[in-house]
Amino acid sequence: MNTFEKDSKFVAPTYGRFPVEIVGGKGAILKGSDGKEYIDLGSGIAVNTFGACDSEWVDAVKAQLDKFAHTSNLYYTSPCADLAQMICERTGMKNVFFSNSGAEANECAIKVARRYGALNKGADYYTIVTLEKSFHGRTHTTLAATGQENFHKEFLPLTEGFVHATPNDINSLNEAVKNNKCCGIMIEIVQGEGGVNALDKEFIEEAARLCKENDLVLIIDEVQTGNGRTGKLYAYMHYGIKPDVVSTAKGLAGGLPLGATMLGEKVKDIFEPGLNGSTFGGNPVCCSGAVNVLSRLTDEFLEEVTKKANLIRETLSGAEGIESISGLGLMMGIKTTKEAKEVVNYCIDKGVLVLTAKDKVRLLPPLNIETNELIKALDIIKEACKL
Ligand SMILES: Cc1ncc(COP(=O)(O)O)c(C=O)c1O
Repeated sequence: MNTFEKDSKFVAPTYGRFPVEIVGGKGAILKGSDGKEYIDLGSGIAVNTFGACDSEWVDAVKAQLDKFAHTSNLYYTSPCADLAQMICERTGMKNVFFSNSGAEANECAIKVARRYGALNKGADYYTIVTLEKSFHGRTHTTLAATGQENFHKEFLPLTEGFVHATPNDINSLNEAVKNNKCCGIMIEIVQGEGGVNALDKEFIEEAARLCKENDLVLIIDEVQTGNGRTGKLYAYMHYGIKPDVVSTAKGLAGGLPLGATMLGEKVKDIFEPGLNGSTFGGNPVCCSGAVNVLSRLTDEFLEEVTKKANLIRETLSGAEGIESISGLGLMMGIKTTKEAKEVVNYCIDKGVLVLTAKDKVRLLPPLNIETNELIKALDIIKEACKL
């Protein structure tokens, strides 16, 4: 059996995979088992911050592998401590809980808000307001947080205590807070899986204001938007707000599984030993990858991210068959006249990997993609969108 056949027979069929088997790569160029080369504008869904096999990152990870791969959280390790310090110094947050994925980072954020509500407002103040079209993960509780009915319906009953307001509708957000005994508000700055919709500045500011006024925990889900993706280290930094909790994962360790939940001043003392944990969380190999990633996301590097994002917008705006472009930085949704799937399939055929989000074509290129690779890929996308 080849890989396609084996996978179809033995891997649980939860994914609709594209007919491509990746066998290697360098930077934004991936190699298929058929010998074909692809320009990767998906980076493993915003994970491979510096693309495939980035030498500096590989060296950092290998150096830790050569020392030891895992100790458990019963012992101290420097990559975990170094990374936490780095994150706190770059964000102003006070401490960090490490896990393995975005869903787990959000589970932790939810626990923080619930405990804060119980301790400071009363045991029945456990409701968290999230948004319609949001995506917060696949565990039972993060599914409940996710404001999309189609993810819920097969798995009822879900964890109680979540209500969903309408994105960019300040009234709806106010009503949700007023009509429920709340402990927090949880939002993505750009709703990725929901269609790459950037929230309005006024709406984000209102969420922050409501949290302050009602003593709620403001949770920003930066699983997809974080770690330089939008041209700032974290997307909330575009808006001058100060979250109480920031969750992230995906691009943090540049290709290894790592989740992080950052706790600000208001909630920094919420945990004590035994209240949360994870066998693999803060794994030294993953943290070494993340230290390398964060140390390279300098202001100069992030300016380049913004320049590349501008290049994409300028190249694609107004092109035949392209109706609109949404998103922030190198996290973009393209509304095409043709069906998004048709565009994606054309691109794959021509050697460019792009994604979808709802009815849009989604671009999440490695942050260090070379300009000439980007231009080549954009030409193919334009060709694919032509009517
Ligand atoms: C905003 C957001 N939150 C949470 C998640 C879940 O992350 P993971 O798949 O790592 O559990 C995702 C994944 O796409 C996401 O985009």
